[in-house]
Amino acid sequence: MRTIDLSGSSALVLGVANQRSLAWAIAEALGEAGCRLAFTYQGERLHKNVNQLAEKFPDALIMPCDVTSTEQIDGVFAEIEREYGRLDTMVHSIAFARREDLEGTFRKTSRDGWRVALEISAYSLIALAKRAVPLMEKEGGSILALSFIASQRVFPNYNVMGSAKAALEHAVRQLAYELGPLNIRVNTISAGPVPTLSARGISGFTGMVSHHREHAPLQRGIEPREVGDAALFLCSPMASAITGETLYVDAGYHVMGV
Ligand SMILES: NC(=O)c1ccc[n+]([C@@H]2O[C@H](COP(=O)([O-])OP(=O)(O)OC[C@H]3O[C@@H](n4cnc5c(N)ncnc54)[C@H](O)[C@@H]3O)[C@@H](O)[C@H]2O)c1
Repeated sequence: MRTIDLSGSSALVLGVANQRSLAWAIAEALGEAGCRLAFTYQGERLHKNVNQLAEKFPDALIMPCDVTSTEQIDGVFAEIEREYGRLDTMVHSIAFARREDLEGTFRKTSRDGWRVALEISAYSLIALAKRAVPLMEKEGGSILALSFIASQRVFPNYNVMGSAKAALEHAVRQLAYELGPLNIRVNTISAGPVPTLSARGISGFTGMVSHHREHAPLQRGIEPREVGDAALFLCSPMASAITGETLYVDAGYHVMGV
């Protein structure tokens, strides 16, 4: 049992692919704190994984959502409105760029590769927030996205995803401003590197993990559970005055110069 009690509240978690997904660590933290959970999966390929993981939370809703489909996004929020009537928390843990845009030179990024990466990894937060607002506005709520420090600094090979994360972090601040009067908080966790399905698609990712471990003040990498704990805090009333924030869960790596 987690020490924060979210019994009676509901959370939509987008971005579980498998048990290593940061979204799953966050869902476990929220679920163990008593939150009712709704999950989405991207395509039939991942449906079985999400079903199996969600067995831990027997009353969970499970819905398809590819964020490139307006129809599927609308379907998710219609279902949540029917089942829950409102929503307290939404977790956006989604990113994608084509493999060829996650290696080699940044200047070869194609127009379409840029569009795909920015649409799926950043625009989707705006599209989802728009639908979440009517379900949150009466009693307030919390929206959380996942970022990486490549939004601010250069990480070779991370390329277009750095641009996407910069756009995502800006969208978080802009939404925080716009939704503040509705008592909806919007934050992002900037996590240290964790070997997940999508992280493995970044050329040279293993080197990034060891560099992080060697240079972070805590001299180690991070565990998905630590991202879950920070997310639980940010989505709870314990963080009631925190919005527009990027919280680094990276063993302190971001404070280093060399
Ligand atoms: N793993 C890391 O090192 C790390 C570090 C910092 C931030 N992040 C961020 O954490 C988030 C989750 O990534 P992860 O590392 O857990 O990997 P993951 O592969 O487990 O999760 C990525 C998710 O994005 C989903 N997704 C991709 N395209 C989609 C689409 N069109 N529609 C709907 N969903 C789609 C995938 O289905 C998957 O569930 C991402 O935003 C990622 O950039 C990861």
